Amino acid sequence: MKAFYKLNQELDKFILSFGPKAKFSKAKELWEKATELMSSLDMSYYSDDAPLISDTDYDLFVKKIEKLEDLYPDLRRDSPTQRVSGTASSSFNKVAHKTPMLSLANTYNAEELLDFNLRVLKFLDWPKDKEIGYLVEPKLDGLAIEVIFEDGHLVRALTRGDGTTGEDVTENVKTIKTLPHKLKTLKTPKLLELRGEILLFKEDFLELNKQQEEDGEATFANPRNAAAGSIRQLDPAITAARPLKIFFYGFGEIDGVNFKTHQEFEEKLLSYGLPVNNQAQICKNIDDVVKYYKKLESKRHELDYDIDGVVVKINDLSLQKTLGTIAKSPRWATAAKFKPEQAQTVVEKIDVQVGRTGALTPVAIMKPVKVGGVTITHATLHNQDEVDRKDVRQGDHVIIQRAGDVIPEIVSVVFEKRAKNSKPFKIPLICPSCQSVAKKPAGEAVLRCLNPLCPAKIKEGLKHFVSRRAMNVEKLGDKLIEQLVDLKLVFKFSDIYRLSHKDLEKLPRQGEKSIQNLLDSIEKSKNSSLSRLIYACGIRFVGEQTAKILARQFETLDGFLNASEEALLNAHEVGEKVAKSILEQIKNPLFKKELHEIVRLGVILKTEAQNKKQGSQKLSGLSFVVTGTLEGLSRDEAKDLIELHGGTVQSSVSKKTNYLLCGESPGSKLDKAQALEVKVIDLKEFMEFIKN
Ligand code: IVH
Repeated sequence: MKAFYKLNQELDKFILSFGPKAKFSKAKELWEKATELMSSLDMSYYSDDAPLISDTDYDLFVKKIEKLEDLYPDLRRDSPTQRVSGTASSSFNKVAHKTPMLSLANTYNAEELLDFNLRVLKFLDWPKDKEIGYLVEPKLDGLAIEVIFEDGHLVRALTRGDGTTGEDVTENVKTIKTLPHKLKTLKTPKLLELRGEILLFKEDFLELNKQQEEDGEATFANPRNAAAGSIRQLDPAITAARPLKIFFYGFGEIDGVNFKTHQEFEEKLLSYGLPVNNQAQICKNIDDVVKYYKKLESKRHELDYDIDGVVVKINDLSLQKTLGTIAKSPRWATAAKFKPEQAQTVVEKIDVQVGRTGALTPVAIMKPVKVGGVTITHATLHNQDEVDRKDVRQGDHVIIQRAGDVIPEIVSVVFEKRAKNSKPFKIPLICPSCQSVAKKPAGEAVLRCLNPLCPAKIKEGLKHFVSRRAMNVEKLGDKLIEQLVDLKLVFKFSDIYRLSHKDLEKLPRQGEKSIQNLLDSIEKSKNSSLSRLIYACGIRFVGEQTAKILARQFETLDGFLNASEEALLNAHEVGEKVAKSILEQIKNPLFKKELHEIVRLGVILKTEAQNKKQGSQKLSGLSFVVTGTLEGLSRDEAKDLIELHGGTVQSSVSKKTNYLLCGESPGSKLDKAQALEVKVIDLKEFMEFIKN
């Protein structure tokens, strides 16, 4: 916190000696440093319950920033000092929308779209042969939001709420990286009330759930829930860590700018630097709308985000005005919904699984059913809140779909088919594996088994330890781990390296050849790295990326095991919460001993520098995105190869991407790369790159 005290002194000096000779540039420089520090102090205070300085010091510091803003009021505009104090409160302020946020009437097929068109034409008394002009775009399946810009500055963001009153989620919305806080224009409109949708891309949703699982936190049912949950976080630091996206598609009150058509409006937003969906199109009549509707339905899975239909809007704004609204939806627009890709099946039972961190997760075991060509038998129910919300019970008939096109999700219960004697499902408060009492740690939504010796936790921990991206013991699958633990042959990580031929003979149905294969694969896995071992330990909040950062920072196992809190916090991306979790582990003498044992048993831990040396630096400074199926190489392997040769891997294509490595049946990433003129290469070309 040296920086804090130094900055305080500088602020004092500037404020005390303020006079005609004082420079705005100096004030601005100090203000920028101070507000940045203020934000990070806020984050550690709110997110981690671990303030870095005393409340009095914090208050004095903020007063100095305010003083600077008194001297130069221009600084105040986007200042965190103006933040509503709602940030840390237990709920969000309710604020009325100036103009209500309407909803849309729905249509479900081409015929209903034709009816909608007829109603519109009739209302307008429109000549049959004259083009009417529709703007069509995807119906984004996220969270509706209103974002208000005054004099070009983002001043407020409200959820839809009941359409009349929403919740003030400004601070959270401001953390969305693709959303500018200031419009890019010289002709600033006085007021822009914009409406749009906040989304999580499918890939980011899957990644987030993986991370939640790794951290021992509850997972989300689908991208929409994850987006909504992220925006309704009381701590903006958590929202900031989620890769949310936003697209604008409508407006409320507007002052100081005019448009004739909806298309013109969306183009204007683009020119302001605001994100607008790139699938919008103009159709001259309803037949073209139907074509667009069918085309988009067939390619909905290629899009990076969930959509549940298309929205059809009269393009001409004066016609929109004439049409007006009826009840709570406009006459000038309709949603044309897609047929959901869902199926009906029966929940045979609800199991409770124990995760690596002891989290008890209810899982519905269902009669196998096909959805989108894939047979589904299991669906997680996440936690008790989710079970209660959907009221899923054993024996229920349920509708299921695949969230983010991948994860099986129970959408709803078919209540008419429910058996009379069915009872609500409650997760037992007893761990199903070790029968110890499970608890909900303060501030968590998840029930956990806290017994460190719980066999289920041990099994899950070991499965993670040997998994491909951890110690990579290829032949040691889940089933074998369970047998080894049940036979008491393995208990802790190091036991894996103590397994002998004789031990393995005790396993059922293992022939000579498979025993030897197993021993060979254990031997092979010993050639490892510090980052893999750190990741393999399964420390809460330490995913693969953090493990790599730690290995780079501390270089050796002892360097890591003896890391101080300060040194941990100095590591890039390691915050209080992560540092605390790591310290808890490395301070434990048994943990230290165990890792030393692993090394003594022959595991070689290459440092990050040695890891790097193995590869060339041929791809240094180049960024890649991988899409489609690559022959003979999994995505993970491709990612490793790129990183090994000094390149970086991104999850989505942007202007900054250098190459798209493209395999068979690529998704929308290929379209995007082509649109942005990003170079597309196949596996063969890529291999040429890294060849000696
Ligand atoms: S226009 C008068 N355009 O759908 C309402 N809405 O069912 C004008 N939505 O609350 C809305 N994508 O959250 C519009 N491209 C899009 C949309 C869209 C999703 C949502 C929006 C609205 C809901 C209405």
